[in-house]
Amino acid sequence: MVASMSHRFVAAACVVATVAFALLAMTSSAQLDPHFYDKACPAALPTIKRLVEEAVAAEPRMGASLLRLHFHDCFVNGCDGSILLDDTPFFTGEKMAAPNANSVRGFDVIDSIKGAVNAACRGNVVSCADIVAVAARDSVVALGGPSYNVPLGRRDARTASQAAANNSIPAPTFSLDRLASTFASHGLSLQDLVVLSGGHTLGFSRCTNFRDRLYNETATLDGSLAASLRTVCPRAAGSGDDSLAPLDPTPARFDGAYFASLLRSRGVLHSDQQLFAGGLGVTDALVRFYAANADAFRRDFAEAMVRMASLSPLTGSSGEIRNNCRKVNYS
Ligand code: HEM
Ligand SMILES: *[C@@H]1O[C@H](CO)[C@@H](O)[C@H](O)[C@H]1NC(C)=O
Ligand SMILES: *[C@@H]1O[C@H](CO)[C@@H](O)[C@H](O)[C@H]1NC(C)=O
Repeated sequence: MVASMSHRFVAAACVVATVAFALLAMTSSAQLDPHFYDKACPAALPTIKRLVEEAVAAEPRMGASLLRLHFHDCFVNGCDGSILLDDTPFFTGEKMAAPNANSVRGFDVIDSIKGAVNAACRGNVVSCADIVAVAARDSVVALGGPSYNVPLGRRDARTASQAAANNSIPAPTFSLDRLASTFASHGLSLQDLVVLSGGHTLGFSRCTNFRDRLYNETATLDGSLAASLRTVCPRAAGSGDDSLAPLDPTPARFDGAYFASLLRSRGVLHSDQQLFAGGLGVTDALVRFYAANADAFRRDFAEAMVRMASLSPLTGSSGEIRNNCRKVNYS
């Protein structure tokens, strides 16, 4: 009796410890702090903001690209700057992974920011992963979106994983179930999926990513949008693959047009329209809600960005502060 009681107690304690550890591993955000650089380099955040504003003024799409760069960093083994590492003959990084190759942009802007921040800080104090996270926030703000405090203190990975980049970033061909399970595998909810997909209020997609939708999914695609997208994206694979279409009608303005488009079957990507089928589903209700409530979208987007920005950071003495965001420091 005593033995079985204590056995049960140990089992229960193990479950508690496992759950606690899992939660900790998912969001060790307790160790991140928006004031992390207040003493070490008060000039860091204003410097990042100024350079992001300049880059977005020169090319508004850069704001979208920097937001996506942060998403693709965080979904692959956490927000650790791994996406920034260049491939070399001896090292395979994430840049040529399927979701990133010929697609993810903004590396030169991150390099310029890193140089300016190191100069402003008189040394190498701010991690590349933190620069990416802050640049994403400043990009959203520069294009009219909500502001939020970015938790800071991430350190940079000394490794990267092309396999994880292939497997951990959702594809535009995914069904709602697969989108939801990919987000769940990162500790993010169905609501996070919907509100963060609202990032597609900014930026563009290449034809290769929406061609199938134009020729095979006409039942769920508005006819006039289909007709106009077909002019930039012909049916034959290989023709116009890199032609761009805006993900919503106002690709340089953070607004509710993305959700309004989904209500009218005008989602550009298959994955976008998966969130709204016009029925009674949970995501249908969320899309209707955000289309009707711009303030709720802004608030919930900001909160979800903080959750995404807090995925599995390296902190303390893990990783390093890279000198050059494209390569690991000498050991
Ligand atoms: C839900 C799953 C998602 C899928 C399947 C997806 C897929 C895609 C695809 C295929 C593109 C076009 C890339 C190209 O053609 O080169 C794109 C662009 C973009 N995505 Fe997503 N995405 C998702 C979620 C997100 C999230 C969570 C964010 C940020 C919060 C985001 C932000 C962006 C932005 C801003 C662009 C435009 C980038 C530019 O113009 O450079 N996406 N996405
Ligand atoms: C990742 O995907 C790309 C493109 O499909 C492929 O060439 C590469 O071999 C994959 N890498 C790994 C490690 O699976
Ligand atoms: C559409 O579906 C057909 C049949 O499943 C397939 O052969 C084709 O590659 C798909 N894509 C396009 C762009 O037609």
